[in-house]
Amino acid sequence: MRRHPAVFVLALALAPLPLACHAAAQGSAGAAAAADTLRLPAPRPKGPLSVEEALATRRSVRQWAKGSLTLQELSQLAWAAQGITSPEGKRTAPSAMGRYPIELYVVANDVQGLAPGIYRYVPRGHGLVTVTAGNRRAEVAKGAAGQASVATAPAVLVVAAVPARLGARGERTDRFVAVEAGAVLQNIYLQATSLGLGAVAVGGFRDPDLAAALPLRADEQPIIVVPVGRRP
Ligand SMILES: Cc1cc2nc3c(=O)[nH]c(=O)nc-3n(C[C@H](O)[C@H](O)[C@H](O)COP(=O)(O)O)c2cc1C
Repeated sequence: MRRHPAVFVLALALAPLPLACHAAAQGSAGAAAAADTLRLPAPRPKGPLSVEEALATRRSVRQWAKGSLTLQELSQLAWAAQGITSPEGKRTAPSAMGRYPIELYVVANDVQGLAPGIYRYVPRGHGLVTVTAGNRRAEVAKGAAGQASVATAPAVLVVAAVPARLGARGERTDRFVAVEAGAVLQNIYLQATSLGLGAVAVGGFRDPDLAAALPLRADEQPIIVVPVGRRP
């Protein structure tokens, strides 16, 4: 009998935190110990829009109505971007050879129940580890050429990549990273749309400034920035 995918989603989201150590061994969860991992609420397996409705109504939104994001909304966005959806650790977005070079960062400026700061998403165990405590809104926005959508959003997702995880692929390395980040970006857009939130892809940033603002690790590069907020 085929088990409903939602069973895996919930089981993985509720799995004990030490599983984060496994992800660290894969090189995709950061060096932080499991004890440092902040567990996100379990993602919901159903939403109000069909995929078709989300595709038809998705639009880039650059201005925000007043209001914080909830932790449940952030959980859902992170899960859509990189959540684990199978017992072997496969994710919402496809990955060349299953190497998972994408890392997801969350710049939390105004998220209920989450201290302002920068966090790395840990897919295994569905949690966050703190990268930098405190409000880094100004530094991150400066890295993104001062774009107002980034400066004013309650949360900004940064899709980064560790190209080395793909091995020696020559020109395919950059191609695969771009394809994977694109899939993650669209997942975020569609999930934001389904939640009634707005999001925009921001590619206009200076790599060194943005990398320093988070900061990214030496083997990571920023690919796309996605501020998310309430639609006006
Ligand atoms: C790779 C990429 C980079 C982008 N960079 C920016 C950006 O720096 N600032 C911005 O406001 N929008 C940016 N956008 C959003 C596009 O302007 C937007 O997708 C386009 O106008 C089409 O509108 P739609 O997304 O509402 O369909 C970017 C989109 C992509 C795919």
